[in-house]
Amino acid sequence: MTNILFIKHAAQLITMRGHTERPAKGSAMRELSIIEDGSILSHDGKIVAVGKTAEIQKNYPELIENATEVDATNKIVTPGLIDPHTHLVHAGTRENEYAMRLNGKTYMDIMNAGGGIHATTRATQMAGFAQLYEESRKRLDTFLLHGVTTIEAKSGYGLTTEHEIKQLEVAKKLHEDHAVDVVSTFMGAHAIPVSDKDDPEVFVDKVIHEMLPEVAKRKLAKFNDVFCERGVFTPEQSKRILEAGKKYGLIPKIHADEIEPYGGAEIAAEVSAISADHLLKASEKGIQQMADKEVIGVLLPGTAFFLMAEYAEARKMIDNGVAVALSTDANPGSSPTLSLPFIMNLGCLNMGMTPEEVLIATTINAAHAIDYAQEVGSLEVGKKADITIFNVPNYLTLSYQYGMNHVDTVIKNGCVVVKNRQLVKQQNESKV
Ligand code: NIG
Ligand code: FE
Repeated sequence: MTNILFIKHAAQLITMRGHTERPAKGSAMRELSIIEDGSILSHDGKIVAVGKTAEIQKNYPELIENATEVDATNKIVTPGLIDPHTHLVHAGTRENEYAMRLNGKTYMDIMNAGGGIHATTRATQMAGFAQLYEESRKRLDTFLLHGVTTIEAKSGYGLTTEHEIKQLEVAKKLHEDHAVDVVSTFMGAHAIPVSDKDDPEVFVDKVIHEMLPEVAKRKLAKFNDVFCERGVFTPEQSKRILEAGKKYGLIPKIHADEIEPYGGAEIAAEVSAISADHLLKASEKGIQQMADKEVIGVLLPGTAFFLMAEYAEARKMIDNGVAVALSTDANPGSSPTLSLPFIMNLGCLNMGMTPEEVLIATTINAAHAIDYAQEVGSLEVGKKADITIFNVPNYLTLSYQYGMNHVDTVIKNGCVVVKNRQLVKQQNESKV
């Protein structure tokens, strides 16, 4: 059965054309390539034409005759949003810690006392596959309702080979079953388990010699990530773990300089990581090295917002040639949100980014941060027909009316998966 989709009369069709080969940097982060009264035609999940509505109607009458039509009058059309940094697969919530923080405790105090990541690790270890799948599937639905068609998802709440693999198996199954594409990252080095606290090297060895080979053998992840932070993994340990992952073909990522300056951005440049994420406290030198080595800065303003911390210096990074992407960091401790559009609002209001830059940062640059830009992130012929339609007349309104969900319709692989703000039941959703 052929599947043809025709979207017509978009007030603004925002294509992000021309950034597929390299992430957008500097002033290129403001080049959206907008078509007014725009139209897009897809066939069997791939984009076949992008242009003015009248032009497409004239050139493709036969395809259009057999197409499902979507009228985007007074609406804007963008590539499906991409979230390049999430902790999607986990069990439980931590609102108790939120209350503790509002009463003066810090994020690291709570973690060092055996809460934080350790609390979610206990809950995730206890949860069976079906429970983890179900909790994570609901979150994925919410991502989709907020216009996201691809996410990255990390392990890191298992902290034993068995439970890390369980988390990654859940992510894999969700990728197969759900409309949203899920790209996996192994993050065994997310915390030192309480039982190894007195001798962290024992755990570093386990990550390198036990977990990494097993994850690679089962082909469960594309990336390898480390939480490089004082009291968690040192820059030296982080480097060792990331270099070890490379030997198995896992591409390095790093949680860098989130709570204090710790040389994480520098390590990212040294190991040629695809991205360094957080960077709230990244040094000037680290930022320059990232620009030189073309490491993408994945910024997570939801975390600064929720931890009531200072924001990453997005303006400085962009002006110094770092390609910036934005993400929710969705997790139960430091950023319990599933709204990437809200993160775009924060990017503008609290990190000095422009409305154009936050759109590039959540589409094509986010695609580059997960090595997926050949297939998604822009509306160009040959790419997947992953498309979000927002019920606003121009893109400025998206970053102006904040904290609201403007998503009207979402298309994944040329199929309508959200219509009139509601999920369309998917055919291939399996039961676990
Ligand atoms: O990216 N900083 C480390 N990891 C997550 C938080 C995980 C958690 O608190 O559960 C982050 O912020
Ligand atoms: Fe994170």
